[in-house]
Amino acid sequence: MAQVTAALGLTPEQVERALATAALAPSVHNTQPWRFRVRRDRIELHPDPSRKLAATDPEDRELRLSCGAALYNLRLALQDLGVRPLVTVLPGQDAPGALAVVRRGGTLKIDDEHRALLKAVPHRRTNRKPFLEATVDPRQRHALVRAAELERSWLHVVTTREDRAQLKKLVQRAHEIQLHDEAVQAELAAFTGHRPGATDGVPPASAGVRPAMQDEWVFRDFQGPERQPGKDYESDPLVVVLCSFYDGPLGDLQAGQALQRVLLTATTHGLSASFLSQPVEVRRIREDLRRALGGLLVPQTVLRLGFSTPVPPTPRRSVAELMIESDEHAPC
Ligand SMILES: Cc1cc2nc3c(=O)[nH]c(=O)nc-3n(C[C@H](O)[C@H](O)[C@H](O)COP(=O)(O)O)c2cc1C
Repeated sequence: MAQVTAALGLTPEQVERALATAALAPSVHNTQPWRFRVRRDRIELHPDPSRKLAATDPEDRELRLSCGAALYNLRLALQDLGVRPLVTVLPGQDAPGALAVVRRGGTLKIDDEHRALLKAVPHRRTNRKPFLEATVDPRQRHALVRAAELERSWLHVVTTREDRAQLKKLVQRAHEIQLHDEAVQAELAAFTGHRPGATDGVPPASAGVRPAMQDEWVFRDFQGPERQPGKDYESDPLVVVLCSFYDGPLGDLQAGQALQRVLLTATTHGLSASFLSQPVEVRRIREDLRRALGGLLVPQTVLRLGFSTPVPPTPRRSVAELMIESDEHAPC
């Protein structure tokens, strides 16, 4: 496994710390589909082809969303180390196969807002538990919308009764389609449950209670405990659709960074979040959702936000495992 070396004027220990922060990002099924190549003048972010979900995510869209989220964490960590991150997304021949390259764009003193977001990184978790019956206030909603905007993306808040009913139907239809897709179910099973010593996947303690088709919002089934009678889901969570302005890798990477900024902003406001990705994963339902949003915005993920009680962290691979040797070919 490759050693972490000095880069961007930072010591190997500082670079390692920044990469460990990047790796705390959320990722589809906790696949952690990112790798890093460290050179003196740059840190390259690459996709990890061995972590693709060919059935669930055939176009690697969620892989890039996840990598975008890791990139956002990396940017925060570098700022905290006094480095102004100069990011080139999709660098092409400059770094073949890379999704992004980060260079040193001078020095910087991290501001209070970014310091608070960085502090939230280890506390942000996907929370699949029922939420409390408390509403997210307009100030908090505004902060989430602004977080997406600042990362060149759009957060559509689903407010009207009709829109919520329509989205619920799309979630249910997509969920049902995925339940009958053996390849999708096999990928889910591969990243679910008790897997001793696992450094990826969703362990039972993070799975949330078992979903049921009649749920208001039907969640992915990570084989959590059966639901206790009377412990139902909240009636009225805040539901949002995170969208990009472009279709394709650039939009995916922008939305991934926005996703992480929205989730960290939520964490700083004491909010919990979970995902309802089914309608964006099933292509034809995603087209329906896109039309429902007016046809221009590109839906990237659906989030449910509210107040809950803490959940344990999910595991992560070590930084050493994420490193690409400088002379190793990075397959894309
Ligand atoms: C693009 C993307 C899509 C996801 N979709 C779902 C989903 O549909 N259902 C779900 O329960 N979790 C979903 N997750 C959450 C991941 O399972 C979670 O991030 C991962 O298990 C790591 O756990 P953590 O977020 O608590 O760190 C998604 C995450 C990402 C980044």
